Amino acid sequence: MAETVLVTGGCGFIGTNFVRHMLEKYDHHIINLDKLTYAGDLENLQDIERDGRYTFVRGDIAVAADLERVFYRPIDVIVNFAAESHVDRSIIDPDTFIRTNINGTFNLLEMARKKKVKRFIQISTDEVYGSLGSHGAFREDTPLAPNSPYSASKTSADILAMAYFKTYGMPVLITRCSNNYGPYQFPEKLIPLMITNALADIELPVYGDGLNVRDWIHVKDHCAAIDLVLRKGEDGNIYNIGAGNEQTNIEIVRLVLEILGKPGSLIRFVKDRPGHDRRYAIDSGKITGSLGFRPSVDFAEGMRQTVQWYVENKGWWERIKTGAYLDYYEKMYGNR
Ligand code: NAD
Ligand code: TYD
Repeated sequence: MAETVLVTGGCGFIGTNFVRHMLEKYDHHIINLDKLTYAGDLENLQDIERDGRYTFVRGDIAVAADLERVFYRPIDVIVNFAAESHVDRSIIDPDTFIRTNINGTFNLLEMARKKKVKRFIQISTDEVYGSLGSHGAFREDTPLAPNSPYSASKTSADILAMAYFKTYGMPVLITRCSNNYGPYQFPEKLIPLMITNALADIELPVYGDGLNVRDWIHVKDHCAAIDLVLRKGEDGNIYNIGAGNEQTNIEIVRLVLEILGKPGSLIRFVKDRPGHDRRYAIDSGKITGSLGFRPSVDFAEGMRQTVQWYVENKGWWERIKTGAYLDYYEKMYGNR
């Protein structure tokens, strides 16, 4: 039966890909509640605006009255992507991270409790586990040890969400995914920043020694995993999501330059990020074993396609890079 799924933050990177995934696969009604912060772009979903199964509502998850405007109709499932998501911004200005990521999630949980929503998926991150040394990988029972205001706020939201399962028996599930790449990612994050800078022949700023490790997954595979959890996951469970693809930052930067045929002289090592987590790696044994998740995108091919997407959608990121984002860029990299 068709369900009504509330996707929050659907105008951001992963939300946009997830809304498309759901409309391609199912006949559900998707309501996209998004505040349209600097990271939310209504144009990302412009081509589906006329789809009768899709409704956009502009609103803030941290404002209870905005949720009231959405919940006047029955909602079966909530998938909460809405968040402030960039670690560097959380270091400069943590305030909005607390407001959206913690208070916003709390408001949604409260509304879900009142309205007896059938499923609440909290989209979390592997960053809640903190940083790894050279061995091992994050499991669902790895102790929570966040290091940035961003990851601390996501951890708080996870703990709150799980408390709603334990206290009220609410059908809450949490997913914790590793770093995503793919189309529609805002060009402040590593991969799109490097692609768009290289395309514009601007220096590529690499933090510290460039040897920090991230475990990369294509956004399509992340969306497929969330879909699996939504359909088959067990209430009160946490599912790590990853594709087993660890890369140092410098390897990523060199790959981008290689794909674009740009010179290594564009690389510039800059001052390290404060509290920079050294290594992330996901053990996705639980979701592969219990739900049968298998990532499908090969990294080399996924990166080629992603670079190609940014080449073909120059207008999308040029508009961003010449707008308000410029002030942030100057603040961030101006004196590094
Ligand atoms: P994003 O920054 O690209 O998008 C966030 C979206 O949320 C934007 O559309 C923004 O307008 C919206 N939003 C922000 N504050 C809001 C509010 N108060 N009310 C309503 N909408 C609001 O983020 P993303 O990279 O797509 O990440 C989505 C989710 O996935 C986040 O919860 C993030 O923590 C999680 N996550 C991201 C990654 C990654 O690699 N990007 C990895 C694991 C988990
Ligand atoms: P980012 O995309 O911000 O994701 P996260 O910090 O949430 O993992 O950064 C990925 C890695 O790339 C991280 O180790 C920091 C590094 N990085 C740079 O070296 N230079 C940059 O300009 C940015 C934005 C990130």
